[in-house]
Formats: sequence, C-alpha cells, structure tokens
Amino acid sequence: MTYQYSFKDCLQRAERITWRVEDIIGGDKKLDFSRPFLPESLARTAELDFLSAEERLTLNHVRGHAYLAIFGLVEEFILPFVLDHARPHLNGDDYRARAYLEFASEEAKHIHLFHTFRDEFQRDFGAKCEIIGPPQAIAQHVLSHDPLAVALLILHIEWMTQRHFQESIEDDGALDPQFKSLLLHHWMEEHQHAQLDAMMVQDLAANMTPAQIDAGIEGYLALGGFLDEGLKGQAQFDLEAFERASGRRLNDMQRRDFLRVQHQANRWTYIGSGMSHPKFLWSLSTLSPAKHAFIEGLAPAFS
Ligand SMILES: [Fe+2]
Ligand SMILES: [Fe+2]
Repeated sequence: MTYQYSFKDCLQRAERITWRVEDIIGGDKKLDFSRPFLPESLARTAELDFLSAEERLTLNHVRGHAYLAIFGLVEEFILPFVLDHARPHLNGDDYRARAYLEFASEEAKHIHLFHTFRDEFQRDFGAKCEIIGPPQAIAQHVLSHDPLAVALLILHIEWMTQRHFQESIEDDGALDPQFKSLLLHHWMEEHQHAQLDAMMVQDLAANMTPAQIDAGIEGYLALGGFLDEGLKGQAQFDLEAFERASGRRLNDMQRRDFLRVQHQANRWTYIGSGMSHPKFLWSLSTLSPAKHAFIEGLAPAFS
C-alpha cells in the first residue's frame, strides 16, 4: 500500500506558507466579543433553549476558550512525538527529515499561537475559565502508550482540524474575524501534517505483526476513552465558567441539560469529527479491516 503523498510535496507546500503569530493576533488585532468564536455545529448552544441569546454568546466564548486550551494541550504531546519520530531519520532521505522538522517547528508555532490567543481572551473576557490538565501530565499519559496508538490519535486530530474549518468555519460569516483567522491559519499548515502523519502511521505499522497492529489500535481506543473522560470534566468547568461570566445560576434540571448537551458537543468537536473522517478511516482500513469496521460503527456515538 502506498500513499499519493510525498515528503518533497509536503515540504514544498509547507515552505510556501509563511505566516507568523504576530501577523494574526496582538496589538490592534483583538478578539471581538460581540461575535461568536466557534460555529454552532461545534458550540451547540441553541439546544439549550433556556439560555437567552446573550447567554448563548457567552457560552460560545467559554467554548472558544476551551478550544484554544485543548489545542494548546494536544500540541504539547504532538511536538515531542514528531521530534522523536524525526530523529532516527535525520541521515536518510533529506526531504523526509526536513518535512518532519518543519512539521515539529509548525506545531511549536501553533502552541505559541494558541497560548497568545488564550492570553488575549483571558485579558478581555472578565471571568475565570478553568481547563483540564495539567498539560504535562496529559502529555506524559498519552506518550506512555504504544507509538502506533499515539500516531493514530495525532492523525485523528490533524484530520479533525481540517474538517472543523472546511465543514463549519470557512463559510460562516458571523464568526469573529480574528478567531476565524486563527482557525484558517492553523488549517493551512495542518493539511501537510495530516499527510505526514498518515505516512508516519504507515512507517510504524510496516514493521509490526497483525497482533501488534491490533494492540496499537486498541491503544488508540483507550486514548479516546481517556480523552472522553477529560471532555466530561471540561463540560463541568465550562458550566462553572458560564455561571461566573453570566452571573446566572442554573437550576438542577438546567445544569443536567447543559452538561449532557455540552459533553456531547465536545465529543463531536474533539472525537467524532476526527474518528469518522474518511481519510482517517481509510488509514485504519489499510491496517486492519476488522478494527476499521469496529471504529466506523463506534463513531456515531460521538456525533
Ligand atoms: Fe497544529
Ligand atoms: Fe498539526
């Protein structure tokens, strides 16, 4: 099985994309809190019909903050993983070595980008928003898994960012232009990452037995379960941040509805949209048709 992608193409496309963090945020480039940050397909505030339009916007901002924090957090394990994968190949194919180093450098830039947006958000939002973590403990847990499991999770995350932008952000004219610019610039570089990850998965699996591949895919599923628990905790933090920011205390039934809807919204945002991406599923199908069918059947629970 071979991919249509090449290291030379990925590197050359990456080299033509040259934005800096300072071009996107900072100075007079500020977040506009009169507009939503996330599209409704990810934020899912409308289902909470006991919230006013203004409260739904506040919740959208709280979810936008969590998006910044969660991406900052996942990129903290992607960066060392990609560097570890690049190191043994530094003396081989030059395009390959440079493509992975470029990938790692871009992820370091993305961590900086998400941190900078988060600092801007915290300066102007006016209420404390908590986040699951700490990032180092999450990174340590993720990186303790089989490399194939981690590579599959990263592949899932890269295709997920493509889907977020293409399916729900690109054509949404209501979003804050600054937040949309973040998502656009992230999307531009993630496309090469998704292709490089697909080749990384292929490389890792090439030296594994079918039983080892199955164990790697099981590891990916275990990481999905770990992520889902984290997202449940994040929905609780978002409820508390919403109440602080809006000054409204929800009753018990409203809180239950909030947590149910928002946990599911988080599941689609960070799990379902990656797990059901056709290109992610295609990579899985090349590793194990049985596991591919199982995961394809599981994905609707995260939609
Ligand atoms: Fe990234
Ligand atoms: Fe990436």
